[in-house]
Amino acid sequence: MVAKRRVLLIVSGGIAAYKCLDLVRRLGERGFAVRTVMTKAAERFVTPLSFGALTNERVFTDLFDLDEEREIGHIRLARDTDLIVVAPATADIIAKMAGGHANDLATAVLLATDKPVLVAPAMNPRMWANPATQRNVRQLRADGIHFVGPASGEMAERGEAGTGRLVEVPELIEAIERLAMPESAAQSGALAGRHVLITAGPTHEPIDPVRYIANRSSGKQGYEIAAAAAQLGARVTLVSGPVTLTPPPGVETIRVVTAAEMLEAVSKALPADIGVFAAAVADWRLAQPKPEKIKKSAGGAAPTFKLAENPDILRTVATRQTDRPTLIVGFAAETEDVLAHAKKKLKSKGADWIVANDVSPETGIMGGDHNTVHLVTAAGVENWPNMSKCDVAARLVERIAQHLDQLRPKRTAAE
Ligand code: C5P
Repeated sequence: MVAKRRVLLIVSGGIAAYKCLDLVRRLGERGFAVRTVMTKAAERFVTPLSFGALTNERVFTDLFDLDEEREIGHIRLARDTDLIVVAPATADIIAKMAGGHANDLATAVLLATDKPVLVAPAMNPRMWANPATQRNVRQLRADGIHFVGPASGEMAERGEAGTGRLVEVPELIEAIERLAMPESAAQSGALAGRHVLITAGPTHEPIDPVRYIANRSSGKQGYEIAAAAAQLGARVTLVSGPVTLTPPPGVETIRVVTAAEMLEAVSKALPADIGVFAAAVADWRLAQPKPEKIKKSAGGAAPTFKLAENPDILRTVATRQTDRPTLIVGFAAETEDVLAHAKKKLKSKGADWIVANDVSPETGIMGGDHNTVHLVTAAGVENWPNMSKCDVAARLVERIAQHLDQLRPKRTAAE
């Protein structure tokens, strides 16, 4: 029997709270077991009775209510679920989450959980655009919190428009469907028993002890792929260049600095069933980095450096005689002729698939949270719509799982 997926919905105080009544009804129809926690402010917009009636469960509101704590304490609320959804999420609850507050039931649960958390913000556009809110959102993303929305459009306040609306219920459900993976399903998931090796982030190539050559890669796409593969039950090794992201839960993360270190870590991590090479590896390093900090010369002459080519990690792995992963996915970050370069790379690197994207500064892809990619394979090119890097990752790992399934038919129960 398939385990019922469990969602803990945390409703904070916003006019959009009423939309979550429809959300819980539809989640129920899809076979989710939903429990609700409401903040005091949320109760001003919708009554606990409404959520209670729709979920068939008591609604939890008070950290200090002895009856509630006896029935099911905040730690159990935080753990006995597959996903926590904060919808609508006000600027205030986002700020509390970013600061690690725990002065009411909702924030205590969020601080105590070890489960994935999805936040659906809803607030006035100016509150959303405020640097404090944006700072908090960045912090939460770096902590591994997932976001859906906010959407743009008319606000509840008459005459106000902009970004800050709660996303529509179908979009919320789609994000929940993707993230609410029961533990049992993850363990027997589509990539269970597979080892996925992923590179991510930039590399730093030293010039001297204080300076280095680098690039603008944030590592977000590679980290999202690692998280998505782990969610499908894979054993994941993530070899990461210097980034400020928190490693996804359950992923073995090896931190490196230079391309040479990345290659060494990748070689050690083999064998793997799947290799995903999302790192923006520096193509060149200094042939001889200086052991001491380079000083400006009195005459004003700028120093010159001899560069040496870095090892191509993807090509090295793809052309190995032994231990070549069954499926090798490379990335092609280009600023012009994206598809032509990607097709060339598919051949020259020996990859099976190339995920190509345009990283011209105006796309905002490098360092941003969204990506528009093309999947280039021997069979042709698929153009994917603009999606969050999280959604690109989910779709990519699903495609990987399907592909491996086709190569190796699933074992029958008798085997
Ligand atoms: O040649 P280019 O850097 O555009 O190729 C991009 C692809 O090759 C990416 O998948 C990247 O991770 C991989 N690569 C690598 N080692 C390098 C350079 C690129 O693995 N030295």
